[in-house]
Amino acid sequence: MPKYETRKTPGDTVWFTHDRFGMFIHWGLYALPARHEWVQHNESIQPEDYRKYFDRFDPDMYDPREWAKAAKAAGMKYAVMTAKHHEGFCMFDSAYTDYKCSNTNGAAKGRDLLKEYAAAFRAEGLRVGFYYSLIDWHHPDFVIDTLHPMRKRKDIHELNLSRDQKKYAQYMRDQVTELLTDYGQVDILWFDFSYPGHDERSDLNGKGKDDWEAEELIATARALQPNIIIDNRTQIEQDLWTPEQFQPDEWQKDSDGNLVVWEACQTFSGSWGYHRDEKSWKTPEILIRMLINTVACGGNLLLNVGPTARGYLDYRARDSLAAMGEWMKYNARSIYGCTQSAYAAPDNCRLTESEDGTRLYIHIYAYPFSNLHIPAALADKIEYAQFLHDSSEILIDRPKSAHGMNDGKVKFRLPSIKPAVIVPVIEVFLKQEA
Ligand code: GLC
Repeated sequence: MPKYETRKTPGDTVWFTHDRFGMFIHWGLYALPARHEWVQHNESIQPEDYRKYFDRFDPDMYDPREWAKAAKAAGMKYAVMTAKHHEGFCMFDSAYTDYKCSNTNGAAKGRDLLKEYAAAFRAEGLRVGFYYSLIDWHHPDFVIDTLHPMRKRKDIHELNLSRDQKKYAQYMRDQVTELLTDYGQVDILWFDFSYPGHDERSDLNGKGKDDWEAEELIATARALQPNIIIDNRTQIEQDLWTPEQFQPDEWQKDSDGNLVVWEACQTFSGSWGYHRDEKSWKTPEILIRMLINTVACGGNLLLNVGPTARGYLDYRARDSLAAMGEWMKYNARSIYGCTQSAYAAPDNCRLTESEDGTRLYIHIYAYPFSNLHIPAALADKIEYAQFLHDSSEILIDRPKSAHGMNDGKVKFRLPSIKPAVIVPVIEVFLKQEA
């Protein structure tokens, strides 16, 4: 039985490690320039010039029920949406700033977009999380640092004299209090991110837990929603480890070597915010493999969409989600409630195993013609095997001896033509000890 002990943490991760697959949503003013959510940094856009996106924000086609339906159809069980990204613009009706959606003049005027998202996703039965940027390129007290869009100005040190980072830290606590008071049960709080250290060339600092007053910030959150899952990007380890834009090939560990609850976050194309011109969209096969590879190492996958400035998911995002959904419709059993297996995988395969150790899932990455060799340790444990997508029995050859007709190895007898499933899965019922 694959029971893995992970580091004990304060939040409730039981549902999370069962559900395995969620939707990340990066939506903010950066959807208008549509060339990366870091555009303000990348192009060193000064606050007064970035203002035009605030003035033009008009999400007239925003209908989070459509997003929620698309997420659910893709097989996702939870979502995390940007309440505020590094640009500082709030997608919720905060009492502590005017730089918020409800204060714009377009379709979002007077509305709390985050609240609408939370209601729509809950209505589809999905759990709801909020991403909250520790970085804020708009707040007047946020000390200009190595990443700030104003970092190249000559008068930074003068400008910084009037900035009081402690006031900004209080602002974050106030907003987190709003988010965890007025929005019902929030399952995940996803802070982003720390970059401590000093840059010699610019003579500017990065920021880390002391700048965020992270201990207090976390305490504020826990006092309001004790079971909430908090990530580790404040620079204080909490419930969740978050490898970004790469696929770990083993279970993630904390600094003491304990296994942890982890979640890979990945984009469809590179940018998190809507990026019109990006051509590096991942194929359905890669996306499906990412999900399988993640669960095969005991993790979750948070797959990102960047809605357009008008508020809808563009056709590429919809197509990608639909492809995931088509696979998940028939194969989700190898994902939900599954984790890393202790068995060695057959060639070109990835394994997951149900938490209760009764079923093993063999994901076939390179279809082998009509035989799949079964590693010896597994061969004696198989009670019954079938394709997961159609429950068709898969027979097992157990040749006693080789007479030139076979190699004497135990193998699954597969159809010679690959079934019409991007990644076919063999579901194995494992013999249980009496
Ligand atoms: C980052 C980026 C960012 C994105 C995030 C998602 O560190 O700054 O734009 O929101 O990670 O993991």
